[in-house]
Amino acid sequence: MPLASHDVFTAPDWWRQAVVYQIYPRSFADANGDGIGDLQGITSRVPYLSALGVDAVWLSPFYPSALADGGYDVDDYRDVDPKIGTLDDFDAMVAAFHAAHIKVVVDVVPNHSSDRHEWFRAAVAAGKGSPERDRYIFRDGKGENGELPPTGLQSIFGGDAWDRVTEPDGTPGQWYLHLFAKEQPDFNWDHPEVHADFLTTLRFWSDRGVDGFRVDVAHGLKKNLDPKFDAMVGFDDGVGDLGDGQHPLWDRDEVQDVYAEWRAVFDEYDPPRTAVAEAWVLPHRQARYSAREGLGQTFNFDLLKAAFAADEFHEVIDRNLRAAADIGGSTTWVFSNHDVVRHATRYGLPAGISGAPAPGAASTGSGNDGKQWLLDGGDPGEVDAEQGLRRARAATLFMLALPGSAYLYQGEELGLQEAGQIPDQDRQDPAFFRNRAIEIGRDGCRVPLPWTGEGSSFGFGPDGAHLPQPSWYADYAVAVESADPASTLNLYRRALALRHELECDEVLEWLEVSPSVLGFTRPNGWCAVTNFGTEPVALPSGEVLLSSGPLNPGELPGETTVWLRR
Ligand code: GLC
Ligand code: CA
Repeated sequence: MPLASHDVFTAPDWWRQAVVYQIYPRSFADANGDGIGDLQGITSRVPYLSALGVDAVWLSPFYPSALADGGYDVDDYRDVDPKIGTLDDFDAMVAAFHAAHIKVVVDVVPNHSSDRHEWFRAAVAAGKGSPERDRYIFRDGKGENGELPPTGLQSIFGGDAWDRVTEPDGTPGQWYLHLFAKEQPDFNWDHPEVHADFLTTLRFWSDRGVDGFRVDVAHGLKKNLDPKFDAMVGFDDGVGDLGDGQHPLWDRDEVQDVYAEWRAVFDEYDPPRTAVAEAWVLPHRQARYSAREGLGQTFNFDLLKAAFAADEFHEVIDRNLRAAADIGGSTTWVFSNHDVVRHATRYGLPAGISGAPAPGAASTGSGNDGKQWLLDGGDPGEVDAEQGLRRARAATLFMLALPGSAYLYQGEELGLQEAGQIPDQDRQDPAFFRNRAIEIGRDGCRVPLPWTGEGSSFGFGPDGAHLPQPSWYADYAVAVESADPASTLNLYRRALALRHELECDEVLEWLEVSPSVLGFTRPNGWCAVTNFGTEPVALPSGEVLLSSGPLNPGELPGETTVWLRR
């Protein structure tokens, strides 16, 4: 018997099993026809998101930015980019979401600002030894005239992690640290003003009605740049940590002191504001971020990195549910976001590890992350798009029945494939420009959404799109899929509606099926079974509620998930 349906919107613990939809604002919907998605565009699509059945949206950065890193280079943490809208537009958007009972989560980027942030400009202008410089990480260079970077650190996006400024008197000057693009100087998190300013930012958005925060590079912030680490080979490769809290750059124990301060601010509100950490750390370190005293939840990228295989899914799910239960937290599941190749494409690529891990990634599972395919030209002809989509639908339907919260990335509800072939002159991602040889960049998952099957930008806006949309995007348009009962969009809609009805205690019991089939039951009899193999198997007993693809009588076809009531 299903438990009483839980009003996610009004419950203080709404986040525990929420479906959170990630919006990449510049590529979602463009209201004013300049080719760039905007807040009014988002507001105009609230009915769409409400009908889709999401509990919350998370907006990637919409702050003023020169877009050196897709907006993760923030000029001002307490304003809206004029190209995207105004604070009034923001308030109107929040009001529209709340009226539709959808929570709003915004991105906060504490590891670094942009080089156009007023503090960084002041630091450059004030010169060496000034208090202004102390809010960032400035060092003298090595070599006779300081012409060499202070250490050999490399940036996540390639090239030196240090850049040299010109001093106010016009001479070549000190160097500043940027673990990401050179337009993203790292803050000095040993400085009290940096701490205080982020608390002001958290209150600023919380006072405007924001319900939670997604914390960018949460495992960064604190550093130990002692020169004794200079010789350490491999600590600059973005690999999340050494697992002991002593890595010079990532996941240092003392970063939790920052989040304890943040937690005190979150708890000033009723209901308390929530946070989810983007922390690419080893599994045993995740709990530090997920603890109630800390940020409260962490992205768990393990399913994203796993191959489409029963044993990997089983291991990842089991481990993460246990870890969450140990601290009374709730885990998160994610297959796609603005940093990785879309999962409908990844699952259509040949198996095996290829390419480098995503920025800051701690470890790679055995899934194909698609980076090598992108580097080789991103040819859609090399993707078995049908199989990729079949598996993506099966994996997502399985995931949506799990305890914990589900993060969806805009366009995955359309089964959208990665736009692998973007002409070089149209690319925007800094990874492409700095790191061309090993990384083509993340633009292919950031191409503006298709809303209609025709029109200059498939309904994204009245006039064009800031990244080129491939012609096959038409087939995935919202209007086209809405009219097709078997579409991925209609599958997501049915799944989210049913999930609301069936939501229950955060536990599951595994079913014994066969090595290529994975299944579990929730306490109210809600059961999900996935056939990871390609051959059909016998359909387990129970009333069929939903399936990710067509079923034959008594059979669960390959690469298909079914939801049953038992
Ligand atoms: C995170 C973001 C990514 C960004 C990086 C630097 O990994 O998800 O898009 O490039 O942080 O801010
Ligand atoms: Ca616009």
